[in-house]
Amino acid sequence: MEIKDIKQVDLEGKRVFLRVDFNVPLNEKKEITDETRIRAALPTINYLLEKRCKVILASHLGRPKGKVVESLRIAPVKEPLGKLLNKQVTLAPDCIGAEVENLSLKMKEGELLLLENLRFHSEEEKNDQEFSEKLAKLADFYVNDAFGTAHRAHSSTVGITEFLPSAAGFLLEKEIKVLSKLLQNPERPFLLILGGAKVFDKVGVIKNLLDRVNTVILGGALSYTFVKAKNWDVGNSYVEYDKLDLVKGILEEARKRRIEFHTPLDHIIASKIAADSNYITTERGTIPSSWIGVDIGPKAIEEYKDCIKRAKTIFWNGPMGVFEIEPFAQGTMEIARALASADAYTVVGGGDSLAAVKKAGVREKIDHLSTGGGASLEFLEGRILPGIAALQKI
Ligand code: 3PG
Repeated sequence: MEIKDIKQVDLEGKRVFLRVDFNVPLNEKKEITDETRIRAALPTINYLLEKRCKVILASHLGRPKGKVVESLRIAPVKEPLGKLLNKQVTLAPDCIGAEVENLSLKMKEGELLLLENLRFHSEEEKNDQEFSEKLAKLADFYVNDAFGTAHRAHSSTVGITEFLPSAAGFLLEKEIKVLSKLLQNPERPFLLILGGAKVFDKVGVIKNLLDRVNTVILGGALSYTFVKAKNWDVGNSYVEYDKLDLVKGILEEARKRRIEFHTPLDHIIASKIAADSNYITTERGTIPSSWIGVDIGPKAIEEYKDCIKRAKTIFWNGPMGVFEIEPFAQGTMEIARALASADAYTVVGGGDSLAAVKKAGVREKIDHLSTGGGASLEFLEGRILPGIAALQKI
């Protein structure tokens, strides 16, 4: 079923509850270290302002578990958001209640009200009906532009649609369009690059995309479980032994479907995961027992760069190594740079991969930076995301 977008509805002068994903990374000084998610919401906010809407912005920040956590107040978002929009942003003391309702009623056309962290109320994550109704009381219309949270069935992503007419914002629409293309008609060869910590997080995507991809390349901690499943020694590298059978099944499926399925040919290994540890390069299958794989090696980099050169569509999620530590960042940086110069449609998702692309200085050269980590993976697993489904039933 089609989702209504904000251009198909009359929003002129209305109070709009805009669910955004401002779950942004903060440093110790409570400064935002990456504004991507705020910038990504600007087209929708600006459009609503052009329509003289009273824009009520709502987001979660972190996982405060239903309590007020001072370090997770939404306040740090106010200033950068105001600067980017060149507008005054009013900060609400909460996201529900009489005081906030009054503020919303007093808003003038073209004004912005930023609600406090939705997850300070435990009801938000329970998709509680009463709480959803309280949120809905603040507005005449609901717009969801929080793709990053579309995989959560919460009051502000699902429940609220029972109480207000609803539509999708431009970011949500764009993410659905890009990721649907990967699932439905990607230009081939289609290359899937997966890294990061856990097999469990990526298994659904690999399974669902096995039908669609031509090549898979793996790096990061999760690759050692695959290397182990191929009976190579991985020393003391992180292996999910309870996933070995699952991984063997995936390798067998890939073989049957004649998918090029690469695990690293060589590794950077270290005595411990720390900047001051010893580290060396080693061939696959020769990791000594007390050493840990921390990055893909130079041969793997060359092989992976060749796969990237041949691809026409690429999806990347998860770093190739412990890239936060400089000596172990090479594999991830090289993959980011190779993607940037690829003659392919490139999509990158997941917080770590986005940080890697930023660190490599190639953000502008990636075709689509998905604002969803978990959400983009679940979408590519073929799951129906509750935040999207809730807009479809209207
Ligand atoms: C994210 O950062 O992936 C989204 O904001 C969702 O956050 P959550 O995993 O805490 O629900």
